[in-house]
Amino acid sequence: MKQTVLITGCSSGIGRETALRFQREGWNVIATMRTPDNEQELVGLANVICPTLDVTQEATIREAIAEGLAEFGQIDVVVNNAGYGLIGPFETFSTDQINRQFQTNVLGLMSVTQEILPHFRKQRSGLLINVASFAGRSIFPLYSVYHASKWAVEGFCDSLQYEVSSYGIQVKIIEPGLVKTEFWGRSTDRKNCTGVNDYDEKSRPVLDLIDDAAGLFATKPSDVAETIWNAVNDGSNRLRYIVGVDAHATLLARKVLPDGLYRGVMKAVFSRSSVSMLQKVSVKIQNAMN
Ligand SMILES: NC(=O)c1ccc[n+]([C@@H]2O[C@H](COP(=O)([O-])OP(=O)(O)OC[C@H]3O[C@@H](n4cnc5c(N)ncnc54)[C@H](OP(=O)(O)O)[C@@H]3O)[C@@H](O)[C@H]2O)c1
Repeated sequence: MKQTVLITGCSSGIGRETALRFQREGWNVIATMRTPDNEQELVGLANVICPTLDVTQEATIREAIAEGLAEFGQIDVVVNNAGYGLIGPFETFSTDQINRQFQTNVLGLMSVTQEILPHFRKQRSGLLINVASFAGRSIFPLYSVYHASKWAVEGFCDSLQYEVSSYGIQVKIIEPGLVKTEFWGRSTDRKNCTGVNDYDEKSRPVLDLIDDAAGLFATKPSDVAETIWNAVNDGSNRLRYIVGVDAHATLLARKVLPDGLYRGVMKAVFSRSSVSMLQKVSVKIQNAMN
């Protein structure tokens, strides 16, 4: 029997590439998104449906799962992918911005999980793939709330796997490094703080440097889709899958360096002189590539 995957956040980036990957492999795909009316490509593909699903709206989650079950009879895999980044100095964020970050990246992922678990438990099988980030086990400046959301996802998934495994349900975590997607464009809720406070002068070069790094070193969303495909099909009970050289290097450093030393390295990397030096290097690399 054909297998079925439900994916959140398929309008662009990792979610979209994952939907295309599974469709090419002959799976049934429930490619959910907030505004399917704008979708041109996925809606026209065989064995793909695009129900509305906003992870902050529980009714849309229930309806999308029901529509998927009515169409395909069973859901075997759920990919919790929807998310975005709130970026900038913490003091400048409004409570609404912080709430929205958690409602989407953490509570939204939990709501989708809670809605699918009864179904998985009943069929005594199911796989939950959760797109966290290398930001869920490492730390950069000016990403405090985004980090908090992804660390929360890591902790949630790591604990959940124990309680659901005896019902045949598996949990896996995907940890991409920088990926070339809309995450760095329209999906970012970014505080530039132009001229509004003390943070402006110090935060802007650091944010620019991270943007440059994303422009230069980011992997493709199809690389993440490939890892998700492997995680679904490798038959292992492995929990974490890291994607990208940057993520591997950062998480290795986090693992082997004592906490104080890791913090020292990060402080040095993001010091004013390093940032300015690294930006010059990045301009040179960009010029060489053009
Ligand atoms: N790009 C990176 O460098 C990177 C690195 C590590 C992890 N990640 C994680 O990867 C995941 C996918 O991001 P991406 O890089 O593929 O960025 P993206 O291209 O911006 O895709 C984000 C997707 O999430 C959707 N979304 C946002 N809020 C939603 C909500 N309330 N309900 C349902 N869908 C919602 C967006 O839909 P709309 O079109 O409606 O906005 C979009 O489809 C995120 O969880 C992100 O944190 C990204």
